[in-house]
Amino acid sequence: MPHRLAHAAEKKIEPGVQRCINHACGATYSLRERIYLCPRCGETLEIDCQLVPPKNPETLRRYWAAKTASKLPRDASGVWRYHNVLPFDEAAPFVTLCEGHTPLFHAPRSAKYCGLADLRLKHQGYNPTGSFKDTGMAAAMTQAVISGARTAVCASTGNTAASLAAYAARADLQAAILLPRGQVSPSKLAQSLDYGALVLEIDGNFDACMRLVQELGDDPSIYVANSINPFRIEGQKTVAFELMEQCLWQVPDHVVVPGGNMGNSTALGKGFQELLDLGLIHRLPKLDVIQAEGAAPVARLFANLSARKRSDVDNLPDRLEPVENPQTLATAIKIGAPVSWKKALRAVLRSGGQIVSVSEQEIADAKAMIGRDSIGCEPASATTVAGIKRLFASGHIGRKDDVVAVLTGHALKDPDYMINYHQGTLAFATGAKDSSQAPKPILGEFRNAPERVAATKTAILASLERRR
Ligand code: F0G
Repeated sequence: MPHRLAHAAEKKIEPGVQRCINHACGATYSLRERIYLCPRCGETLEIDCQLVPPKNPETLRRYWAAKTASKLPRDASGVWRYHNVLPFDEAAPFVTLCEGHTPLFHAPRSAKYCGLADLRLKHQGYNPTGSFKDTGMAAAMTQAVISGARTAVCASTGNTAASLAAYAARADLQAAILLPRGQVSPSKLAQSLDYGALVLEIDGNFDACMRLVQELGDDPSIYVANSINPFRIEGQKTVAFELMEQCLWQVPDHVVVPGGNMGNSTALGKGFQELLDLGLIHRLPKLDVIQAEGAAPVARLFANLSARKRSDVDNLPDRLEPVENPQTLATAIKIGAPVSWKKALRAVLRSGGQIVSVSEQEIADAKAMIGRDSIGCEPASATTVAGIKRLFASGHIGRKDDVVAVLTGHALKDPDYMINYHQGTLAFATGAKDSSQAPKPILGEFRNAPERVAATKTAILASLERRR
């Protein structure tokens, strides 16, 4: 079977170009150039895959559907299955750990909790290293090999690190990871160590690590694997394609994601836009991004945009006021100066979505509710359900709307948080200048503490009876 259909979304001979997102600049660069910001104006880049809409969109749908039956190892990947909309040619050294193919669950308890008739959760925590980063890393490490890099580097709150460590090992590259010391869940740190990465702990927060990575990116031996790298976004955009297949091509009204460094929202936005441009969908879902209150620079910017500014997607604000000392127990999104904010904001505005923030208490309770749906996720992912509840209350989301939330990380990514929530020992220090303030307890509405019980049948039955 030919790997691409001649009459499908065929790209030109070059599988794309890198393009500056600054409208006034618009410079383009070859895919081979190892750059992360536009050398001319300093803005971020995105890849234009120069896709040509198929005459009949159904051919493309059938082409991808047929790949699920293929026995080729590359087609077992939920990323490389969509190779014909990615900026790689046939001979690319595809790196894969069988990422993608993640489930879409109905979550009736979470739906009710939010005020909705139904809610579906697309669980990216079912990826090989337990987070959504793997789809992007498959693409980034493939490009790293093509570009002849020796070492792949990232700054991380933990998940990018674990994913890079695994995919770099698979691609036979050295992985070097910059982590904010003491601010990463031990489960994520353990993964990076196990996959053999060089883990460098920095006294500083994620934003400081990110600044260092951008400096390191100048070195010719180094490949930057953060989502500032447009190839990461390409891998991550495939989630939109996979989701639409799972939705039987019925576009949801809202797709809701957490926002940290804003790579995921950028990628989903790009995926849906391409699906629209290819004629595979006829409208965009509203893309809603949820940040944690103590690390919400983009939600703050969004709240201050006038209606006129919100409708002018070609003239985005120039600057994002960073949050100097971001704080949240959802450590994955403890980020004050997100690098992809502009691309994400553009995607949200194009779709008519919103960017809002939620409190620590809301995140914690929403997370427990997702657990009660027998699904579970890490704290950052639970911002989605907390955000949907808020957006329902504000009228942006309607009771009967078709809503999909993207859960970004597996529940076991942060077991300490879960234990503390259920035992009633979760507490949040705001990190305000007045550090004399004691951490504020988060007493979860859905606490489920373990119970000490005598080792007898009678005691156990009595305990069961009490909780029936
Ligand atoms: N959810 C989880 C579980 C994450 O790990 C991250 C980001 C996000 C949401 C936010 O996604 O940055 O694309 O907006 N984690 C990065 C990391 C920063 O280093 O693992 P984003």
